[in-house]
Amino acid sequence: MKNKGLPESSVLKEIESRLSEDFTYSSGRIIGSMCTFPHPLARKVYTRFLDRNLGDSGLFPAVVKLEKETISMLGALLSNPNASGHIVTGGTEANTLALWTAKKLSKKKHCNVIVPASAHYSFDKAADLLGLKIVKVGLNNRFQVNVEDVRKAVNSNTIAIVGVAGTTGLGVVDPISELSEIAAEKDLYLHVDAAFGGFVLPFLKETGFDVSDFDFSLPGVCSITIDPHKMGLVPIPAGGILYRNERLRKTVAWNVSYLAGGETEQATFVGTRSGASVVAVWVLLKHLGREGYKRIVRGCMRLTWKLARGIQKINGLNIVTEPTMNIVGIESEVFDICRIAQELRVRKWAVSLFPSHIRIVVMPHIQKQHIERFLEDLKDVVNKLGG
Ligand SMILES: Cc1ncc(COP(=O)(O)O)c(C=O)c1O
Repeated sequence: MKNKGLPESSVLKEIESRLSEDFTYSSGRIIGSMCTFPHPLARKVYTRFLDRNLGDSGLFPAVVKLEKETISMLGALLSNPNASGHIVTGGTEANTLALWTAKKLSKKKHCNVIVPASAHYSFDKAADLLGLKIVKVGLNNRFQVNVEDVRKAVNSNTIAIVGVAGTTGLGVVDPISELSEIAAEKDLYLHVDAAFGGFVLPFLKETGFDVSDFDFSLPGVCSITIDPHKMGLVPIPAGGILYRNERLRKTVAWNVSYLAGGETEQATFVGTRSGASVVAVWVLLKHLGREGYKRIVRGCMRLTWKLARGIQKINGLNIVTEPTMNIVGIESEVFDICRIAQELRVRKWAVSLFPSHIRIVVMPHIQKQHIERFLEDLKDVVNKLGG
């Protein structure tokens, strides 16, 4: 930082130019991310109420009320309008809070948590932080966690089981109802990571798709991650941790007494936290309603199938599995998938690479022409590698 500041116009000019290097959602080139361009109304209220700090909640009681209503609306979407919880920084914080809660509830000393091999790496981070052992269980031929292996993995040190409703790599939903039975039978905490699927599955179900149960309708489910900053179209940061009841939320609550707003309770990792995120989620849930989100999800699914069918027509490529939601995995028995990803990146496609597949996420900013252009480039890449 220089001693003398620069005029606003010159700083703005420089920042516009510097940031023009970044990928943009509007280009349609970000085709491997779970984030998207936030809805204009959510952006508007987010910037309007940027000053609201839920870390000092006594100063902002109106936002506290909005957060409760938001959690109740998200809870209703997940079959429990009485859910308790918070809008947090994202799926990582939500998953970590869930494991923290499970650990605090348990009296065990050397705790382990059973997670599917497909679970997001945030569980590894959380376990490292919380001193928990992670036990990874393999998948069946539909890329879901192998329930019998989960049952076998439970031992006297197990405190929790995790199920995923919309895996990071392929958007697959684990057999949560069977995990719920195991959790209930063995008195274990069951957390469902629906960071991505939470804003997709309920709408697919309402559209008439066969969606297996994954939410609080299952008695063993203690908490759910659902992220508004993914398919919820809300600006970053906006994750969601929902607990079945207030008692569970209170497990990780701390009282803070020195704040300007008076004594307050915090049950998230961060202290100072964005009230604007809460306002944005509340406003968008009210504005779009179920119909609005359904329309968005349906649009994404239409393009997802177009993409999947297009990939299947390219010699040497295939889809890993029929898409459950708006995520497609591309694999090949002929070509090195890393080389394909490299070539796509050279052509400025921001794809996501997993050990044996390329992941495409068809978010709301992706349009038909982007899918068509992507398929053309993909064909081109395959021709180049093949020739
Ligand atoms: C299933 C799942 N859970 C959790 C996360 C972590 O979310 P975040 O990046 O918001 O922390 C992701 C991120 O992609 C995810 O796919």
